[in-house]
Amino acid sequence: MNQTVYPVSAEWRQRAYVDAEAYARLYAQSLSDPEGFWREQAQRLDWIRPFTQVKDTSFDEADFGIRWFADGSLNIAANCLDRHLETQGDVPAILWAGDDPAESRTITYRELHAEVCRFANVLKAKGVRRGDRVTIYMPMIPEAAMAMLACARIGAIHSVVFAGFSPESLAGRVTDCDSSVIITADEGLRGGRKIPLKANVDEALGHCTACATVIVVRRTGGPVTMVPGRDHWYHELRESVPADCPAVEMGAEDPLFILYTSGSTGKPKGVLHTTGGYLLWAALTHHVVFDYKPGEIYWCAADIGWVTGHSYIVYGPLANGATTVMFEGVPTYPDFSRFWQVVDQFGVNIFYTAPTAIRALMREGDEWVRKASRSSLRLLGSVGEPINPEAWEWYYSVVGERRCPIMDTWWQTETGGHMITPLPGAIPLKPGSASRPFFGVQPQVVDPEGRVLEGAVEGNLVIADSWPGQMRTVWGDHERFFQTYFSTYPGKYFTGDGCRRDADGDYWITGRVDDVINVSGHRMGTAEVESALVAHAKVAEAAVVGMPHDIKGQGIYAYVTLNANEEGDDALRAELVRWVRHEIGPIATPDVIQFAPALPKTRSGKIMRRILRKIAEDAVDQLGDISTLADPGVVDHLVANRHRAI
Ligand code: WTA
Repeated sequence: MNQTVYPVSAEWRQRAYVDAEAYARLYAQSLSDPEGFWREQAQRLDWIRPFTQVKDTSFDEADFGIRWFADGSLNIAANCLDRHLETQGDVPAILWAGDDPAESRTITYRELHAEVCRFANVLKAKGVRRGDRVTIYMPMIPEAAMAMLACARIGAIHSVVFAGFSPESLAGRVTDCDSSVIITADEGLRGGRKIPLKANVDEALGHCTACATVIVVRRTGGPVTMVPGRDHWYHELRESVPADCPAVEMGAEDPLFILYTSGSTGKPKGVLHTTGGYLLWAALTHHVVFDYKPGEIYWCAADIGWVTGHSYIVYGPLANGATTVMFEGVPTYPDFSRFWQVVDQFGVNIFYTAPTAIRALMREGDEWVRKASRSSLRLLGSVGEPINPEAWEWYYSVVGERRCPIMDTWWQTETGGHMITPLPGAIPLKPGSASRPFFGVQPQVVDPEGRVLEGAVEGNLVIADSWPGQMRTVWGDHERFFQTYFSTYPGKYFTGDGCRRDADGDYWITGRVDDVINVSGHRMGTAEVESALVAHAKVAEAAVVGMPHDIKGQGIYAYVTLNANEEGDDALRAELVRWVRHEIGPIATPDVIQFAPALPKTRSGKIMRRILRKIAEDAVDQLGDISTLADPGVVDHLVANRHRAI
């Protein structure tokens, strides 16, 4: 295959913190002397009590455990705010662009610090103590970041729930971690539409008893019902608390946040990240991968409801004293030029988004991009799913005018931050390849038996040793943590992704190899959608698989078996779609529902998903061996009634 390679430009070799020689040297040192390497890197944080221990980790069952800098202490809010006040108190920390282009806000480090202290005192006044859980269900407004930092300041553990999730999903997450407080807004605003966040909280709290206090930030001024004693307006509470709030000393291994994410089985897991290693990882990767230089304007267009928003809107950039843009809206509103208008409005230098957004905008034509100058841009990033080379080339040539290198960053909620990614001054770019491991990351490609494959190969991606940003446990279920990630390939962290390594040693992520699908860069467990479907009174059984989708990357294809005497028609299809949206949220909307009198099962009753995947892909000539099915005739019916396109 003739592979396009874009070498590092002379300009980038010069300006970047890390050039090819430095990458080779530092990467080698990070593996040969992890203690020395990370001791030195950790100096970028302000420690209250300096650590003496660095790495204390094992992926083996006998002495399993992951601890970094364990005897050190620090406070994350102090690292993100207080330490910048003296030198850059008047520098913007957050530039906020509203859904409506007429709305924007600038918040300096001094202002952010002051408001976080207020917010922290509000939480304390409501009884929140170190180690308590606080759920944040917020639109993309600066108060969302303030709420996160306020928790960090007093040692509370935040659990941000994406504002697109349904009341049911919210209730499940509030109950799982037993939150005492929910922070929300009256309504969210996206693409000109209002999202009834407070009403969703009211509905969620009808399902669970965990939470005693709701703090409501006013965003739209829309109508809400306030339950006396339980619900409080933030703007009222903040008037009654002191301005000053000391940052609490936290151990490096004290929890910072829980973030729920989908796996291949069961309910979403509460991924737990701790303090020292996580912040170091977020800050160092933000600094090196984006080559962030003081004074630059940086924009990650993710939502704080996902890990990308945690690490690369809030913690990484603020720890580095950067100016971080927060965007409330969507790329297509009021028109397809919105991203690039915001780039011009704030003079954005670094821009980070997901392939799904790039594909959606690419489809609308180049004029929308060309309408804006974009002359401030110097580096682009991609995250969340594999980027197809066509979208990469368009991003590179049209958006970045061939002068901005693209960092295709592969990582996961579990990893805390970037794991495999190019570096702008060091690593040549190949469209579609995440390229090389970051410092301290030891990727391996293994076969299904766990044999480590050498050279140019394809297989499953594992990581052989710990890195500081790694998740530490699943909230409330340490055994599940071990089983999910460390039992498939003993002694190694299993990513759930497949990958190819080429002859140059560059990595190409091929997508999930488990029952997780990636819809518009959002992780979705097929089991979650299935259990939502079978919760409907007319559904007997459901099997959900991913299908190729031009914009979303993957779409959701659901095979549904109805109860006897039920009629599978378009009206029921529409009803089931509404049902799933209500159970989980709009991101789980099925693209296709195929009614199936029966599903293909082995004689022991296991659904053969391989066959369902092939039918959903319309690859019916590749069904493989179906002779082990209890009733091979089932397949003919599925094939004859499949959807060929959406
Ligand atoms: C996928 C998002 C290819 C992958 C940060 C991973 C990617 C899952 C990339 C994690 C990329 C993320 N190239 N695939 N650059 N980035 N993925 O937890 O399948 O929401 O396992 O974290 O997204 O999704 P998560």
